[in-house]
Amino acid sequence: MTAPRPHFSSSFGVLMTFIGVAVGLGNVWRFPYMTAAFGGGAFLFVYLVLLGAFGIPAIMAELTLGRLTRRGPVGAFRQIGMPGGRTLGWALFVTVFMAVSYYMVIVGWVLRYFLVSVAGRVGAITPAAFFDELLAGVAGQFVMTSIVVVLVFVVLALGIRKGVERTSIIGMPLLFLLLLVLIGRSLTLPGAGEGLRFYLLPDFSKINIGVVTAALGQVFFSLSLGGTFLLTYASYLPRTTNLKTAAIAVGVGETLAAILAGLVIVPAAVSLGIELNSGPPLTFVTVPTIFAQMAWGSVYAALFFGLLFFAAFLSAVAAFEVLVTTCVDTFHWPRIKTAAAVCVGALLAGIVSMRSLDYILTSDLFWGSTMQPLGSALSLVGLAWVVKLRKTLDAVNEGNEGRPVGPLWYYWIKYVVPVGVGVILVLGLDDLFGAFLG
Ligand code: ALA
Repeated sequence: MTAPRPHFSSSFGVLMTFIGVAVGLGNVWRFPYMTAAFGGGAFLFVYLVLLGAFGIPAIMAELTLGRLTRRGPVGAFRQIGMPGGRTLGWALFVTVFMAVSYYMVIVGWVLRYFLVSVAGRVGAITPAAFFDELLAGVAGQFVMTSIVVVLVFVVLALGIRKGVERTSIIGMPLLFLLLLVLIGRSLTLPGAGEGLRFYLLPDFSKINIGVVTAALGQVFFSLSLGGTFLLTYASYLPRTTNLKTAAIAVGVGETLAAILAGLVIVPAAVSLGIELNSGPPLTFVTVPTIFAQMAWGSVYAALFFGLLFFAAFLSAVAAFEVLVTTCVDTFHWPRIKTAAAVCVGALLAGIVSMRSLDYILTSDLFWGSTMQPLGSALSLVGLAWVVKLRKTLDAVNEGNEGRPVGPLWYYWIKYVVPVGVGVILVLGLDDLFGAFLG
């Protein structure tokens, strides 16, 4: 007999945990460089449209499927009787494994920058050279990533309620607070207004299929949509949670974090004359430059990288949780040993990422920007086409004592979102990959 599934303990804990899953490198590292590379305000505009049209309805669907089946992706697809569900579930498992294998390496870089900041050395480094040196040192990256993985293991071993929920309740409010402090510093730099205009005012002539595809990938990556993270965490949700409110809160909280992070980085970088369009190194090269030129720079840098580490760490924990839950549910392996095996496996797989920034970029575009929207579309297809109308609406509305979610949402996730995701990816992937990889 399977042990009863543990639950989250409070509504606040649920919200903070889900926002913690969503907010991470996607907001603070990926969002600013994607915004800069794809037209500033134009990208932000498309991002917000896709967030409302695709992101929030998809969050609601993934939460519904997870809570309905009480399984990770493999078990969920199999349980609803989706044709080929087991294989598709394993494909999503591989997606998460591949994604976390580069993600945690970047979390390791953040840890390194945090330690440098705490040591008060931000003003003493040459940011571009420091970053190149960091990339060249596989052993150094391995040590940092190993520390990240050990910390992830500790949280996983404590379990969903004690580990993940408690960490999120303390960390997420702190994160928003710290972002506000940093924005105050960034916006008071001379000339920050020009960056603010680039970031917030959309130039609609810049919108093309490449921008739309980049924004689509960003929405799904950043919200942790993919038929995996949210689905798995939702399998621990009590029946009393209002999934509609939770989906809206996660979408809004996550986007707020991204916009705030952009408000720290973009105006300050423009004010200091730093090249915005530098892609993945943006945060790691330009942010230390920004801080090095500020009074109390190391203190601000320590806050910034501490905050980024924390946010990214919670997302990494969620990724590992997907892997562990899937193995435990499928093979009935003991949780702690499974967590240890998954952590070691991902660390070893991460060595490839430690050796090549191009590999990270390509992986991120493939596993993050392409497979996550596809995985999410798959879970919507499973819910809408296999579970069907009545049962889906009953499941999404369980715990919702306010206005119920109606058939419009159901038909939206059945037809519009999956078709929209498919069309955008088919038309725009070339442009997206071409923008970074030439
Ligand atoms: N959604 C997570 C992030 O933004 C993976 O980093």
